[in-house]
Amino acid sequence: MAVVRLAAVALAFALLRVNSPLHTALAFGLLGYAITSHLIPRLGSSFIKVGLKGRDLSKAPPVDFIPELMGVVLAVTYMVLLVLIVPFVFFKYLVSFLAMSNDDELSDLFNTQYRSIENNHMFPHNKLAEFLSGALCLLSTILLGFFDDLFDIRWRHKFFLPAVASLPLLIVYYVDFSVTSVVVPTFITAHPIGETFVEYLTSFFAASNELVTYITNLKFTTLTTDYNVASSSAPKLLDLGIFYYAYMSALSIFAPNSINILAGINGLEVGQSIVLGIIFLINDMCYLLSPSISQAAFDSHMLSAIFIIPFLGVSLGLFQYNFFPARVFVGDTYCYFSGMVFAVVGILGHFSKTLLLFLVPQILNFIYSVPQLFNILPCPRHRLPRYNVKDNLMYPSYGELKEGYKLGTILLSVLAFFRLILVERDQNNRITKFSNLTIINLTLVWLGPMREDILCIIILVGQLLIGVLMIATRHTVGPWLFGYDNLSWGAK
Ligand code: UD1
Ligand code: MG
Repeated sequence: MAVVRLAAVALAFALLRVNSPLHTALAFGLLGYAITSHLIPRLGSSFIKVGLKGRDLSKAPPVDFIPELMGVVLAVTYMVLLVLIVPFVFFKYLVSFLAMSNDDELSDLFNTQYRSIENNHMFPHNKLAEFLSGALCLLSTILLGFFDDLFDIRWRHKFFLPAVASLPLLIVYYVDFSVTSVVVPTFITAHPIGETFVEYLTSFFAASNELVTYITNLKFTTLTTDYNVASSSAPKLLDLGIFYYAYMSALSIFAPNSINILAGINGLEVGQSIVLGIIFLINDMCYLLSPSISQAAFDSHMLSAIFIIPFLGVSLGLFQYNFFPARVFVGDTYCYFSGMVFAVVGILGHFSKTLLLFLVPQILNFIYSVPQLFNILPCPRHRLPRYNVKDNLMYPSYGELKEGYKLGTILLSVLAFFRLILVERDQNNRITKFSNLTIINLTLVWLGPMREDILCIIILVGQLLIGVLMIATRHTVGPWLFGYDNLSWGAK
């Protein structure tokens, strides 16, 4: 292990460049891996000493306590890396050049300072505001996760807090980018009924936004100069205005929580985040390697890669201790933090809608969980699968159906009919128990009992396949549906 860490550090120093953010991000990713995999086993006993410990519910007794909340080590490491990467990836040309009055002097400086660096992909100054707002948002999220782990904050109290954490991000988005339009699929506008519907929607959004502007004196709609879709047959845009900001806020609430509820078997919280990171990176590379791409799209996806690569590094360091058999638990801090990394990257990278395609497994798990989350069915404290000591396999875990869940009972019958759940009935054919509504349990319902590590790997491989399929869909079906793709590789 020490050899791998040393090799990672050596490679990191070899990769470190001042003029290539991608190399720098890779170097910081390797450093992140080396630091977390070095620190986590050494800090575990200190965490246990102060009571940050948990018991693995799926192991044969006697089960010792293992450190909880190890995500904090990872999150702090990541934040330090995020600060240290700044001097390597940002360039001050906006500030220094705009302050010059003499054009000759200005272009001289531009040529010597900026152009002279070979393959210069460094960011202009305004991107630093985006980057720092993202860092601030992540920092608040870590604090929220940490307090939640320590004090178990009530969910009605903590529910909206990620939206508060994302405010700096949205404000920078407002000042810097402010695009709030979405493209309407061509098959809708091609039909007169669809077109009328879109016109009604446009009027509704316009009126609502005017009301908001009247009350707040702020305009939330897209400036025409800000968004210009380069296409001969320009697609129809629907300007959501303030609703787009509401959507981005909702995303910052959804992403962290959706990762936290797809949990309960060793390695799954970190594993799904690593898979998501890989999917994001593949999508970014599609743009970054594309020969004909706009500077704006290039910058956005480069920024995304700079957040994601070090995140992958630190997460891999944690994964090796959290995967079966887990020697540490990650805590809600990690789940909130990692979910927010993806929300931040989706928003700053200007692909907050595509992001939903990448979160399909988490969205499906959330939709499937809704009856339990919103008390249509009883929700036990833990919904993780049941471990059977005798055969060392995981089985679906069950919730008990008490009296008074009428809607829930109907729902269970429908789900049972489609084999989306297992139920147990009494002699009167009344449902008494149902398998908990998570896709982890559903995997066991469909594929039968299996070992915990195999279950985790099956879910992660499934997630990766869905993600790759979604990237392909985004750039093939997407252009066909919307009549345009911001990636020139699209099958248009
Ligand atoms: C979420 C889930 C809950 C699931 C739990 C497991 C919802 C609404 N909540 O709750 O159903 O049981 O995550 O993380 O879906 N643990 C293990 N093995 C693991 C991971 C965790 O036994 O691989 C146990 C340990 O006792 C650990 C505890 O779960 O201490 C952590 O649970 P916590 O993250 O606090 O649960 P929630 O996020 O509230
Ligand atoms: Mg949790």
